[in-house]
Amino acid sequence: MVAVDSSQLTPKEFQQFQTFILKLCGISVPDNKITLLSNRIRRRLRATNIPDFDGYFKFLKSAAGKDELEDFLSAITTNETSFFRTEKHFDWLRTEFVEMLVNQAKTGTRQRSIRIWSAACSTGEEPYTIALCLAENQHKLAGWKISVLGTDISEHAISKARAGLFGEDICNEIPEKLRSKYFLKHAESNTWEVKPVLKQMVTIKRHNLMERNPESGFDCVFIRNVLIYFSRESKQQVIDHLVHSMAKGAYLVVGPSEGIFDMLGMLTKRSTFLYQKE
Ligand SMILES: C[S@@+](CC[C@H](N)C(=O)[O-])C[C@H]1O[C@@H](n2cnc3c(N)ncnc32)[C@H](O)[C@@H]1O
Repeated sequence: MVAVDSSQLTPKEFQQFQTFILKLCGISVPDNKITLLSNRIRRRLRATNIPDFDGYFKFLKSAAGKDELEDFLSAITTNETSFFRTEKHFDWLRTEFVEMLVNQAKTGTRQRSIRIWSAACSTGEEPYTIALCLAENQHKLAGWKISVLGTDISEHAISKARAGLFGEDICNEIPEKLRSKYFLKHAESNTWEVKPVLKQMVTIKRHNLMERNPESGFDCVFIRNVLIYFSRESKQQVIDHLVHSMAKGAYLVVGPSEGIFDMLGMLTKRSTFLYQKE
């Protein structure tokens, strides 16, 4: 058992980690968060049996520390999410958005297909809620090609999202009628599994928002509860990538705390959370 450094990061070490994190995922750790970051990294020192911050930093940057990067990311970010988080976003999607696409298809201005991207989807609650809203329109969308892409930087999060298996406490967020319609209960493990009708719409992939998504032409992109801790420069980079991935006429659904409302001048504001690419 190695004695783990119980002191704080030195200002120099703190700065090294700040730069490293900013480059890794766009997050800007504020100067006054030295204690918080020290505490979070100290947990990783214990888990890896590395005695000091400097040794840990060197390990993270080495080829041998590649797997540790995942756990480091989990230690510094939050995967908090839920089904139907900010319900009005999904009310819009289920009603006005679908109505509009159906009308466009009727007038011949669109193919019968829908592509939605849940960017930074964490453990999958967001893309599955999107799929559920579309499934609730199954009659209007009969014969349509529907795809929902969920992406996240965290391998831990995306492997959970892919499994589509959620605990009882998490599934309590879903209205009972919808839960029994779209989820299968496994009584022995007290978990609920997403039924194939939703799963087949959803694809989960790893993607860093700081990079451009190789896929584009999305009709709607969700970016929620992730950019709050990004530096202004990183936010701008992410926005450019997101807008590039959107089809003409597509919508961007923005979370309440992203801090990007003044950076969306290239889009037309449709409501407090909704922006359209003209
Ligand atoms: C708080 S969760 C939000 C999940 C979901 N969008 C919601 O609103 O409930 C934030 C997610 O962003 C992910 N994340 C952080 N930095 C990222 C980056 N640079 N690229 C992609 N995902 C990132 C984290 O791994 C985490 O799963």
